[in-house]
Amino acid sequence: MTDELLLERKLPPLLPRAEVLKILQEEIYGYMPPKPEKTEYAVRRNIIKNFCAGKAPCDEITITCTLGGREFSFPINAVIPAGKKNLPFFIHLNFRPENPDRYMPTEEIIDNGFALISLCYKDITSDDEDFENGLCGLLFDGGRREGNSPGKLAVWAWAAQRALDWAQSLGDTFDISRSCVCGHSRLGKTALLASATDERFAFAYSNDSGCSGAALARGTTGETPADIIHKFPFWFCENYFKYADNEENMPFDQHYLIASIAPRRVLIGSASKDSWADPAQEYLACVAAAPAFENGFVHPDRLPVVNDVFFDGDIGYQMREGLHYFGREDWQRLMSFVKSK
Ligand code: GCU
Repeated sequence: MTDELLLERKLPPLLPRAEVLKILQEEIYGYMPPKPEKTEYAVRRNIIKNFCAGKAPCDEITITCTLGGREFSFPINAVIPAGKKNLPFFIHLNFRPENPDRYMPTEEIIDNGFALISLCYKDITSDDEDFENGLCGLLFDGGRREGNSPGKLAVWAWAAQRALDWAQSLGDTFDISRSCVCGHSRLGKTALLASATDERFAFAYSNDSGCSGAALARGTTGETPADIIHKFPFWFCENYFKYADNEENMPFDQHYLIASIAPRRVLIGSASKDSWADPAQEYLACVAAAPAFENGFVHPDRLPVVNDVFFDGDIGYQMREGLHYFGREDWQRLMSFVKSK
């Protein structure tokens, strides 16, 4: 059944990873900003009194990157269980700087044996058409963009990669082979892109990322490329704009984004009542991306239903009951997926 649904969608065939990444950067997200010439870290320890009852202090790290001879700084939070080494960990791109946050049950994550690094996306650059603030101020001359210059998703994804640089700089505190970048909605799209373009991430998790994230565009009954391009053009490169109401001519679809994470692991999470993100299209993208992975996507031959959890392949999928939200049930399933591998 899923094969027939994919045939109806007339998807572009999978290509080698390098070609897929080129198409994605050229046609939808823009090319990732360059790596910094120099990076420095300033650490403020234990910024929240009695955090997690003393099990794990919350530190703030200011990352200062030099690009084109100019500096850009942004903060991240790190919560590291005291006295532990080689920790599996999440880099969570979040909407807000608060720790914990309604999308981030920090203590529960710590109690499951993980460390947690979080960043607030607006500390990197604003979520609007202004390409002159934050990191964008160093990348664009007077805010001017070329057709394949990075959109905001690529700029935020770059920051998650810098948080990973910091984790690596600490030696054996973190286990990089158990690193996972994650986010919800627009930041789920960002997490997939961060992992697609940086092979150091062992896992990626997209929660309800939908259009231009995990969901196939061809055949959607939710948000379309035209909808998203109209409302959020600044998330993408300008080359994407020509595909509004013209999906059939896209030389890619969103299974390319998932496939470009191979041979590593990726979990896609949907919410049963999130029709805008279109769970069935997120699931079908997993099916279409599966051949790029050694252990693909192990699933029944039907569309997903509430509380489906498919963890046997390199691609995992889970559908939670309810609305568009990154809740503790999503985190619990995410943590089980990482532990199961
Ligand atoms: C809007 C947008 C989605 C996006 C979401 C979010 O609904 O249309 O594509 O995922 O915002 O980031 O919350």
